[in-house]
Amino acid sequence: MKHAILNSLKKERVVSGEALAQELDISRTAVWKYINQLRGLGYIISSAPRRGYSLQSVPERLLADEILDGLTTRMLGRNIVSLEEVPSTQDHAKILSIKGCPEGTLVVAETQSSGRGRMGRPWVSPSGGLYFTVIFRPRINFEEATRIPLVAGVALVRAMERQASVSLRLKWPNDVMLGEQKVAGILSEMSGEMDRLDWMILGIGVNAATAHSCFPPEIRRTATSLAAESGRKVNRLQLLKDILGELESLLEEYRARGFEPFRAQWKERSGMMGRKVTITGGGRALEGKAVDIDTSGALVLDCAGGVRQRVIGGDMTFKEADHG
Ligand code: BTN
Repeated sequence: MKHAILNSLKKERVVSGEALAQELDISRTAVWKYINQLRGLGYIISSAPRRGYSLQSVPERLLADEILDGLTTRMLGRNIVSLEEVPSTQDHAKILSIKGCPEGTLVVAETQSSGRGRMGRPWVSPSGGLYFTVIFRPRINFEEATRIPLVAGVALVRAMERQASVSLRLKWPNDVMLGEQKVAGILSEMSGEMDRLDWMILGIGVNAATAHSCFPPEIRRTATSLAAESGRKVNRLQLLKDILGELESLLEEYRARGFEPFRAQWKERSGMMGRKVTITGGGRALEGKAVDIDTSGALVLDCAGGVRQRVIGGDMTFKEADHG
């Protein structure tokens, strides 16, 4: 009902309580009750005696009604769980996936109290950022699934660049960098049999309008936000809709044309081919020259003694002496 009242308010400049009550077949008191619920969510609605209600402004929060308004996707984000605060959208989405929620379900929150990053690290999630997880049920096997986060990385960068007019770079395996600082990351998790996934979730964290002072001291040198760098206001709602649109259309393109075009785009976007890197993880460090992203999305390194190595996970740093 709230949704129907909001739609009417968005369509008409002024709409009377009487008209709303008739249209929805409810009492005027019920209309008033729903109007107050909308006000409680942050919608500014004025009311003038004998004229009616008028919507003055919508809240900046990532509410389901606002996400759906103007969303261009067919499947992604059509079912929305929008929360004020959650431990982690990723954990919430995992439970929904196991329970059988529809493909494309979006879990989004204003803040997270235990946001998770790759390699078991925390993802600090103060207000002003964008934190969400989308659920897929792709009919693919585990090997194919390793390519999806790379396709998602290309989609994320495209949408972010459009919204903030900045130039971004991808850092293997899936960081989005503005200069030498990180502005976004992707965490992918999946479950199923080797030859067929049950579900895959992509958790995306974007430092959209996060104030630099909100980052904990230990990441202030290595993290930044779109707003802090561009000096422009970042519309998180539009950015979210744009990312969902781009993600859905690139995943469709991937299904139709395969991984090759994305592999090429990813490599170009990363600017890391030919550079000396160190990959750390699992208590080991591997050094070599980055030479390729292979057909399954793994990083290929030329290591000492002419040995070629495939790497599927870890943290990458450029070697100090290499400024290529
Ligand atoms: C990384 O380490 O770069 C990946 C960060 C992913 C963070 C996002 S925020 C939304 C979702 N919920 C989480 O707890 N993590 C992911």
